[in-house]
Amino acid sequence: MTHAELSPAEITFGFDELFFSRTDLAGIILFGNSVFQRVAIYSWDELLGKPHKIVRHPDMPRAVFYALWDTIKQGQPIGAYVKNRAKDGRFYWVFAIVTPIEGGYLSVRLRPSSEIFGVVKTEYEKLAALEAREHLKPADSAALLLGRLTELGFADYRTFMATALGHELAARDAKLGRAPDPSIERFGALMQTASSLLTQADRILSAYARNENVPFNFRVLAAQLGAQGQAIGVISANYTLLSDDMRSILDSFIQSARHVFNTISEGYFLASTARIQREALQAFKHEVGQGGGAEQEVRLLDRQQAEYSERAAESLREIAKSAEVFRTACLDMSRLSAGLEVTRVMGKVECARHATIKERTTELLSELEAFQRTVAGALREIDMMNHSIRREAQALMDAA
Ligand SMILES: Cc1cc2nc3c(=O)[nH]c(=O)nc-3n(C[C@H](O)[C@H](O)[C@H](O)COP(=O)(O)O)c2cc1C
Repeated sequence: MTHAELSPAEITFGFDELFFSRTDLAGIILFGNSVFQRVAIYSWDELLGKPHKIVRHPDMPRAVFYALWDTIKQGQPIGAYVKNRAKDGRFYWVFAIVTPIEGGYLSVRLRPSSEIFGVVKTEYEKLAALEAREHLKPADSAALLLGRLTELGFADYRTFMATALGHELAARDAKLGRAPDPSIERFGALMQTASSLLTQADRILSAYARNENVPFNFRVLAAQLGAQGQAIGVISANYTLLSDDMRSILDSFIQSARHVFNTISEGYFLASTARIQREALQAFKHEVGQGGGAEQEVRLLDRQQAEYSERAAESLREIAKSAEVFRTACLDMSRLSAGLEVTRVMGKVECARHATIKERTTELLSELEAFQRTVAGALREIDMMNHSIRREAQALMDAA
C-alpha cells in the first residue's frame, strides 16, 4: 500500500456552507448547526455536552489553541485556521472565528482557500514538528508562531488574523462567483495604505537615527574655528534644539501612526466577522425555518452579529479619529522639518565664508540636506495617505 493510500483523505464541504457551534466557558459543546454535525460525522449525542476538542486533529500545533484560549478568556475575538478530524479519521480545514458570548463562546467557521491559507498550512506543519521534537511548552510555541508571522510581514497576531479573514472572505466570494464585497475590499485597501503609511513613518525614524550626530559634528567644527566660527556655532546650536524637538515628538508620531494602522486592522476584522456572522444567521434561519425550536440560537446569533456590526461601525469612527490625531502629529513634524530646512540654509551661507572647512562642511551639509529631503518626501506621502484614509473611512461610514 502506498503512503498516499494510507493517508486519510480530506473532507471538503461547500464554500457557501458555514458552520457554527456554541460552547460554555470551558469549551463544552452546547449547540451546533447541521453543517458542523454532518462534516464532523459524529451524532448529536456524541457532540452535545462534549469538549470541543473531540474534533481536534493531532497535526494541529498546540500554539494555536494556546493563543485561542488566551485571547477569548480576555473577552476578545480571535480568528484562526484549524485542521479538524472527523469521526472517521478524515480531516477538514476551517477558518474559525471564535467570539465570547454570554456564558461561553461562539465559533463560526468557513472553508478557507486564500493564498495565506497555503502559507499557514506549511507553517503549522513545521511548528507541530518542532513542538514534538523540542517538547515545547504551548506558550513558548505560541511565541515562535508569532515570531514567524512577524517574519512573514504581519506586525502581530491581530494583524495576521484580520488580513487572513479578509483574504478568506474575498477568496470565498470569488469561488462562489459573487461580486466582491465593497466594504471588505475597501478595508483591504485601507490596510495597504496604512501599512505604507507605517513604512514612511519608519523611514523618518531611521533617517533621524542616521543623522542624529550631524548637528553635534557641526558644533565641533564651529569650536575648531574659534571666534570665527561663532555664527556657525549659533546656527548649529539652533539646529540642535530643533532636532531635539523632533526627537521628542518622534516617538508619539510613530505611536500615532501605529494607532492608525491598529484601528484599521481591528475594523477590518470586526467588519469581516460581522459579515460572516450575518451570513451564518441567514443560513441558519433558512435551515431551521419558522418555529423550528431553535429560537434561542437564532436570537443569540442575531445579537452577536448586531454587536459585531456595531463594533465595526464604532471602529470606523475610531479610524477617522486616529487619522485626525495623526494629521496633527504630521503638522508638528512638518513645522519642525521646515525650521530645520531654514536653519540648514543659513548654515550653508555661513559655511561658504570659511574656505578652510569647506570640504568637511559640504559633506555635513549634504548629509543634512539628504535627511531633510527624506523627511519632507515621507511627510508628503504620509499626508496623501492619511487624507485617503480619512476619505475611505468616511465612505465606509456613509455606506454602513
Ligand atoms: C467555541 C470554541 C470552538 C472551538 N473549536 C475547535 C475546533 O473546531 N477544533 C479544535 O480542535 N478545537 C476547537 N476549540 C478548542 C478546544 O476547546 C481545545 O482547546 C483544542 O481542541 C485543543 O485541545 P487540547 O488543549 O486538549 O489539546 C474550540 C474552542 C471553543 C471555545
